[in-house]
Amino acid sequence: MDTGPVVVVGAGQAALEATAALRAGGHTEPITLVGAETVPPYARPPLSKGFLTGRVGTDELWLRPESFFARQDVTSVLGDPVVEIDRDADRVRLASGEWIGYGTLILATGSSPRRLSVPGAGLEGVVALRSLSDAEELRCALREAGDLLVVGGGFIGLEVASVARGLGLRVTVVEAGPRLMGRSVGGTLSAHLAALHRAGGTRVLLERELVALRGERGRVQVAELNDGTRLAADVVVVGIGALPNTALAAQAGLTTGNGVVVDRWLRTSGRNVYAIGDCARFPTPHAARPVRLESVQNASDQARCVAAGLTGNRRPYTSVPWFWTEQCGVRVQMAGLTLPHDRAVVSGSAAEGRFTVFRFRDGRLVGAESVNRSADHMITRRLLADGAAGPAPDEVARPGFDIRRHLSRTG
Ligand code: APR
Repeated sequence: MDTGPVVVVGAGQAALEATAALRAGGHTEPITLVGAETVPPYARPPLSKGFLTGRVGTDELWLRPESFFARQDVTSVLGDPVVEIDRDADRVRLASGEWIGYGTLILATGSSPRRLSVPGAGLEGVVALRSLSDAEELRCALREAGDLLVVGGGFIGLEVASVARGLGLRVTVVEAGPRLMGRSVGGTLSAHLAALHRAGGTRVLLERELVALRGERGRVQVAELNDGTRLAADVVVVGIGALPNTALAAQAGLTTGNGVVVDRWLRTSGRNVYAIGDCARFPTPHAARPVRLESVQNASDQARCVAAGLTGNRRPYTSVPWFWTEQCGVRVQMAGLTLPHDRAVVSGSAAEGRFTVFRFRDGRLVGAESVNRSADHMITRRLLADGAAGPAPDEVARPGFDIRRHLSRTG
């Protein structure tokens, strides 16, 4: 397929995987990857986990060795973001003023943390966590701090809370919703995680909102909640969700709306322009409506799907979504998109800390949330990928249910 020169906007997981998959698929046209950050593409998941304790060093974050770009003949432009797409002339403008022409454009612009809008949100010590430099700042701050306030009980907030407790800080999590990880998991798992965090010594406050942060000499010291509670805070980590980076696409007249809107082949409304990863909103056989997903799986699989299309192996994007998190020493894995569902059945033992919540819609398996039960997770992914109905809810409910037997029987 004649793609012309490929320009990839972004230098995160999706962008890097797209360039790698293009070359692996035999693509020989020029490829340019343009990133806003000055560092080469790196893995983000460790930034809210092992990187903060020092267990994972910076050297372990790079997604490819430095030699990758020269070896694969990929031009990387770092620290000079794309600021404009000129779709009439098929070219992009960099902040430095340089224009780069494209035959095919791949938008992998990612997402940005939602910002707090309370008084004091700009004080020193109030941090979001997205980039390597955010993580470096937080790692230093945690070393000095005694009291950590986490705003938002989602992926970022709970992973940081868990690490900080391990480092000996006093930790409070303030979550606006009625349960933890409300966007991503069901009630059983939310309750299990809340119990684990509390048992580890973290104060978890639900249905509570931050109204102001107060400080001295520009540095945060105290947080005030809507019920009048005042909390000491040397560091405040804000993990209240992420928003897709769509400004560039919108300015170029591409269709946007909670993400850059794409079709099953991840094509935007613009000719020869694709969008992948955190910034893309796409239709999927795993959900009734188009979705936007923030995960390494989604970034990597969408990158490979677009690259396959550009190297002569066009197929729609149908990958099974999956996610994972690590908190309080347990590994939580989620397969499928489970909302809405009409039945949830627990297999295993929450008391022993090893269980899976299987979720069903109209009697069909639509996903699973597993705590320290990787086999359940992996097999659920495979069943969903195969479009198999999976085990019936009543079968899962029987004592001694083992999904591995189900797979060997049907697979
Ligand atoms: N005060 C307290 N909690 C809030 C507020 C607020 N003002 N606004 C939102 N929240 C809560 C939400 O109810 C939700 O539980 O913050 C939580 C945000 O959780 P996520 O949506 O999981 O977002 P976050 O943890 O910021 O992670 C963003 O980064 O690493 C990625 O994959 C990760 O997709 C995730 C993204």
